[in-house]
Amino acid sequence: MVYTRKDVSTLTAAEKRRFVGALLELKRRGEYDEFVRTHIEYYVADGEAGLRTAHMAPSFLPWHRKFLLELERALRRVDPSVSVPYWDWTRDRTPTSAPWTPDLLGGNGRRGDLQVTTGPFAHATGNWTIRENVTDGTFLTRDLGRPRDPIDLPTAADLEWALEDPAYDAEPWDSTARRGFRNKLEGWGAGRGKTSWRNHNRVHRWVGGAMLGGASVNDPVFWLHHAFIDLLWSRWQHRHRDPRYRPATAPRPGTAQHGRIVARHERLPPWDLTPDQLEDHRGIYRYV
Ligand code: CU
Ligand code: CU
Repeated sequence: MVYTRKDVSTLTAAEKRRFVGALLELKRRGEYDEFVRTHIEYYVADGEAGLRTAHMAPSFLPWHRKFLLELERALRRVDPSVSVPYWDWTRDRTPTSAPWTPDLLGGNGRRGDLQVTTGPFAHATGNWTIRENVTDGTFLTRDLGRPRDPIDLPTAADLEWALEDPAYDAEPWDSTARRGFRNKLEGWGAGRGKTSWRNHNRVHRWVGGAMLGGASVNDPVFWLHHAFIDLLWSRWQHRHRDPRYRPATAPRPGTAQHGRIVARHERLPPWDLTPDQLEDHRGIYRYV
C-alpha cells in the first residue's frame, strides 16, 4: 500500500506523538544508532580517495532516498501509521515555527554549550543519549540561525535557481560542478564562507550543532530536512523533459571520476539497488 509523507506543519497532535514515539523506540533498541553509524561511514568527501556515494556525487539524491526508506521501514515496524514528515524551510523559517515545538523536535540549544533542553530529545529526558559521534558530545546540540554569525535559511528563490536547471548533474560530478540540479540543491558553492553554502548545505549550517558533520543523523531533523530534499527531486523531475539520473554510464578508465561515482545502472553501496531503481518513489510513498 502506498503511504503518504506530510508537511510537518500539518501534523495532528496524535501524528506528532506517534512519530516521536517510534523514533524513541528505535533509539531504545539501538537501531537508531546504526543509522548514525552508516551515515558517518559514508561521509566521504571529494578530497578523499575511493567511491563517493552519499555526498559530493550524483548519487547524493538516491542514496539519501534509500537511507530514508530504511529508517521509515524501521519506524513502521514499530508503528505502521508513521511516515517521515518533511520540513519545508522556505515556509517554516524561524526557531519557534514547526518543527521546533515542544511536542515534536524541541527547540534551540541553550547559550554556552548549545544543549537542547526542551522536547522529547532533550538530554535530561534520558531518552536521547548520543552514542555515535564525530566528537565526544553525548547530548543533542543546536544553534538555530547561528545568532553570533547569523545565517538565513535558503529562500524560494534560492531553490528556484536549482530547480530550473534542466540537467540532473554535470561534469566533473563532484562538489565543484557549476551546472546540474544535484550540486545546486546539495549546495556546494564557489568561494568561502556563508555565501558558499546553498540550499541543502545551508540548512545544515542554519540548524548548527549536531547537524554540522557526518553525525548529523543524531538530530532527528535530519530526516525531515532530507524528506524535503527528496520531494524537491520529484518536483524537479516533473518539470523537465529529460529528468533522468546522470551519468548514464560510468566515466572511462583514466578519467578523474573513474571509480569514484555511481552511474545510473551501477550498484549504489551499501544497498543492492541502482540509482535507476530509485528514481521513482510513487509505488511506495507520495507527498501531500
Ligand atoms: Cu547525508
Ligand atoms: Cu544532509
